[in-house]
Amino acid sequence: MEEEKLHELFNDMSLKEKVGQLIQLSGDFFDAQNISFGPHDDLGISQEMIDLTGSVLNVTGAKDTKHIQDIAMKKQPHHIPLMFMADIIYGYKTILPSPLGLGSTWNPELVKKGFENAGKEAYASGNHVAFAPMVDVAKDARWGRVLESPGEDSLVNSRMAKAMVEGFQKDFDKKKGQAACVKHYAAYGAVESGKEYNTVDMSISNLFQNYMMPYKAAVDAGAKMVMSSLNSLNGIPTSADKWLIKDILRDKWKFKGVTISDYASIQEIIDHGYARNNSDAAKKAIEAGEEIDMKSPVYATELVKLVEDGIVDSKLVDDACWHVLKLKNELGLFEDPYRGAAIQKELKEVMSPEKRELSRKLAEEAIVLLKNKNSVLPLNKKEKYALIGPFAKEKSLIGMWAVLGEEDKVVSLDEGLKNKNINFEVAKGTDILRDKKLVDSMGFFSKFNPVHISSESEEKENLEKAITLAKKVNTVILALGEHKIESGEGGSKTNLHLARNQLNLLNEIHKLGKKIILVIFGGRPFVLTDVEDKVDAIVEAWYPGTEGGNALANILCGDVNPSGKLSMTFPYSEAQEPIYYSHLSTGRPSKNPQKDGRFVSRYIDAPGEPLYPFGFGLHYGEFEYKNIRTEKQEYSIDEKISIKVDITNKGDMESFETVQLYMNDPVASIVQPVKRLIDFKKVHFKIHETKTIEFIVNSKSLEYFDNFGQEIFEPGVFNLYIGPNSRDLMKQEIIYK
Ligand code: BGC
Repeated sequence: MEEEKLHELFNDMSLKEKVGQLIQLSGDFFDAQNISFGPHDDLGISQEMIDLTGSVLNVTGAKDTKHIQDIAMKKQPHHIPLMFMADIIYGYKTILPSPLGLGSTWNPELVKKGFENAGKEAYASGNHVAFAPMVDVAKDARWGRVLESPGEDSLVNSRMAKAMVEGFQKDFDKKKGQAACVKHYAAYGAVESGKEYNTVDMSISNLFQNYMMPYKAAVDAGAKMVMSSLNSLNGIPTSADKWLIKDILRDKWKFKGVTISDYASIQEIIDHGYARNNSDAAKKAIEAGEEIDMKSPVYATELVKLVEDGIVDSKLVDDACWHVLKLKNELGLFEDPYRGAAIQKELKEVMSPEKRELSRKLAEEAIVLLKNKNSVLPLNKKEKYALIGPFAKEKSLIGMWAVLGEEDKVVSLDEGLKNKNINFEVAKGTDILRDKKLVDSMGFFSKFNPVHISSESEEKENLEKAITLAKKVNTVILALGEHKIESGEGGSKTNLHLARNQLNLLNEIHKLGKKIILVIFGGRPFVLTDVEDKVDAIVEAWYPGTEGGNALANILCGDVNPSGKLSMTFPYSEAQEPIYYSHLSTGRPSKNPQKDGRFVSRYIDAPGEPLYPFGFGLHYGEFEYKNIRTEKQEYSIDEKISIKVDITNKGDMESFETVQLYMNDPVASIVQPVKRLIDFKKVHFKIHETKTIEFIVNSKSLEYFDNFGQEIFEPGVFNLYIGPNSRDLMKQEIIYK
């Protein structure tokens, strides 16, 4: 529609209609299946406001969206179409690896293609806005939502944010794909003690340096929407934070799209203790610049009156409504309210072979090889193996936040290995989860995600069968991990070990003296300290997605060389959390506890170091790094630095290697981390090939944020480091004068 026409429409709308555009309700309000997860209270919204609602949450499918659109448009006085928005976080139907796995690919280009595919599927199925990318920097593995994030590092998350937005919005100007909604703004990943919905309190310098950049990267890449988070930040619930939404997002970052609350977060301003009642919450949120109210009654029941009574400026509602209408117009909904969605198209796009293939490739690059003693991997096609564990035949490999994915279409590990003609037999050994109390405590959520708990006698029999099978072979592939209900939203945990029953299975097999290849499924880093020395290989599979079994089989058989590297630190003990590579030095760094003794920054009962550092991941075969160098040591501020290193693939397989560049500013006006990732490259190497890898650094790469959120550069000495992970690095000192 021409902008002039849109203005005409806008000028003709009543206040109630305008407020209606700011309401988002779930499918149950529209006679559709409701799969939204969050509190399910009766919202008490009048039928009139329901009929004026502007957008719908988590209803997808060409048939259902068309049906709802037809009814809704008839009810709207100006026949304004609805916008459909859904949680397409790492795939719509063809599910990609969970985002912590996507982060571990270190391959934004491939991730971009994955999101382009997700956008195509969702587009054909009638969805308009995807609630992704989720790029909260997450440093605490206790937080269940680390599953949804690319990881602990601002640069990795920023590159992924850009890739994900560009993928979704690739053909947006042709009215195709998805509008991206980046979330959760801001710093949700820093919730205290990893506890869901908890508080965030941090310096402005830390906020900008470590948490804000991924959201900005998404905005710079053109994301059409921004979603607030469920936490408060430095004392203010983000849905009511004018500084965040107006000053930073709108004024500083020049965001022109639509803002949306998280699920019920406008009403939750009251529970935070920042508003007295719904009316107060509505006023505070709209004044802060929060535009769409997702699944709370606040705007629907309060905004009209607040404007009519002159308490809220009508311009705020106008601006918000205008942004929503503009997005609907950009989506092309006024010309085609179904936006091309049709059942035939949906059938063709959804789960097409090319999409499954790309999902498999992403999973192959996401999988991280953490240990491979005596090259127990790859598997030997002449040997007979036992595949044991509750994840051996499991098809629930897509994780909690693939809410629209279909588990029956997933390739299990057992199916993947069969496709490779590996000689093996299977035994379950034990359940994934045997904690009935935990399952019961999850309320209605458990109904959507039933957990099978075997009886005591079945469990005993499962274990016996597994042991009998293990005795027949030399090597056991042990498939363990966490149940999907244990991570994702509302999945915070204090115990990051494998479940006790699974550890028992592992110990029983270990007692037989068999070689063990441990394959771990799950949404977060685990504490593997107590199993590390009992197994010969460890393969971190994350939730590998629809093609998980095939991807794993390719890696295990050596048809694909593993290249994934951790985008989040694996702790030695959960008591170290949050543990991350980019920590500060402290005044008493624990360089050598033997020498320095007690009074240094350390634990007396555990190392300060993690079990596996950020950036770590093995291949079949080793890489050698040599000759880190720059042309000189001193540079003037406007000069660029070329830093090079020679890398050789010593192995007998071709391989990708992610080369990582870190920096450290040893003296600064605000103390800086011991290391900060400033660039990385994923490079392909032929067998025994040597390549010289070059990075270009300038003074901009060495800036940091001050406590006003401004980037500053302080000349002086800097350390640059290159290596295969954040621990094993070569150093080069340079000076910017
Ligand atoms: C989550 C969001 C999600 C929304 C809609 C909330 O509970 O925090 O990430 O997009 O629900 O389902």
